[in-house]
Amino acid sequence: MGDPEQPNYFRLADRPCRSCRAARRTLNNPPQYASDPKSAGSCRAHCSHLACVAVAESRKGGSSLGGNLGPMDRSRIIPAQVRYWDSVADEKRFSHPLRIAWLTRHAGPRARILDFGCGHGRTLAELLRGGYKNVIGIDFSFRMLKCCRSHLPDVRLVQNDGQTIPLQKHSVDLVLLFAVLTCIPLDEEQRDLLREISRVLRPAGLLFISDLLLNRDLRNLERYDRYAGEYGTYGIFELPEDVVVRHHRKEWIEELTGSFGQLEFKPFEVRTMNSNKSAAFQYLCRALPSPK
Ligand SMILES: C[S@@+](CC[C@H](N)C(=O)[O-])C[C@H]1O[C@@H](n2cnc3c(N)ncnc32)[C@H](O)[C@@H]1O
Repeated sequence: MGDPEQPNYFRLADRPCRSCRAARRTLNNPPQYASDPKSAGSCRAHCSHLACVAVAESRKGGSSLGGNLGPMDRSRIIPAQVRYWDSVADEKRFSHPLRIAWLTRHAGPRARILDFGCGHGRTLAELLRGGYKNVIGIDFSFRMLKCCRSHLPDVRLVQNDGQTIPLQKHSVDLVLLFAVLTCIPLDEEQRDLLREISRVLRPAGLLFISDLLLNRDLRNLERYDRYAGEYGTYGIFELPEDVVVRHHRKEWIEELTGSFGQLEFKPFEVRTMNSNKSAAFQYLCRALPSPK
C-alpha cells in the first residue's frame, strides 16, 4: 500500500462512487490509494471514477481535475469518461440545433472550423451541408469517431481529450462546443479546455457553445441537491448509467467565457440524450483582444 502522505498518493474519496461502495462491500477492501495499482484490487476500474478522484483531490486541497494532476492521474480519469462515451456511441443521439444562419452571419465559407467533441459527426455533417468544407472533428471517444468516419469519409478527425489540442496557435477561425461542457463537469476542467480553445483560435476568432442550463423541475432539483455536497458545485450530478454530467448557471457560463464578447445568445429547450427536456442555451461569441 502506498503512503498517503507522499505527494504522489491521494486517497480516494470517503464517499466513493456507487460502484466502489459495492466493490468494497463485496471485497472488504481497505481505503485505497489511487497511485498504487496493487492496492486498488479488483475495483480499480471503478475507482478511476471521475467523482472519486475529483473529490479526493479537492479534499486534500489540490487543484481539481485537469489542473495540477500529474500524468498518472489524468491517465486514470480520462479513460473512465472515454469508456462511457465509447459504450454509448451507437445508441445516443444529440439534438442541439446548429444555427447555420448565425454562422453565415459571422463566418465566411472558407472558415476553418473545429468541432470539439464532435461525437458521431452530426454537426460536422451539417456544417458540410451548409457549405463549410474546412472542418476538423475532435473527440476522445474512438467509437464516436468510428461512427463519424462511417458517414464522413473525407473529414479530418482527431482523437484527443482537449488537454492539449494538436493544432497550432491561432490556426482556427471557429470552434464548436456542442453539448460538451455538460460532459466536463468541473470548473477547472472547463477552464482548461477554454484556455486551450483560446490558444488555437485566431485573434477575434469565434466560439459557438450549445449546452445545458439549470432546470427548475423537481426531478432535477432533487439530483442537484443530492450531489451538490459531493461535487462542490450545484448542477453537477450522476446519471444512473454512472457518468457525471453538469447543468450550468448562466452566470458561470458568463464567467467561463469572460475573454469573449457576445454576438448571439439564445436560451431554448432541448431534448437530452436520454430524451428528457432540459433548459439550454446557445452562445456565439468572439475572442476579445487580450489585455496588454
Ligand atoms: C453529448 S455528446 C455531443 C456530440 C456532438 N457535439 C453533437 O452535438 O452531436 C458529447 C461528446 O463529447 C465528447 N467528449 C466529452 N468530453 C470530451 C473531452 N474531454 N475531450 C474530447 N471529447 C469529449 C464525447 O465523447 C461525446 O462524443
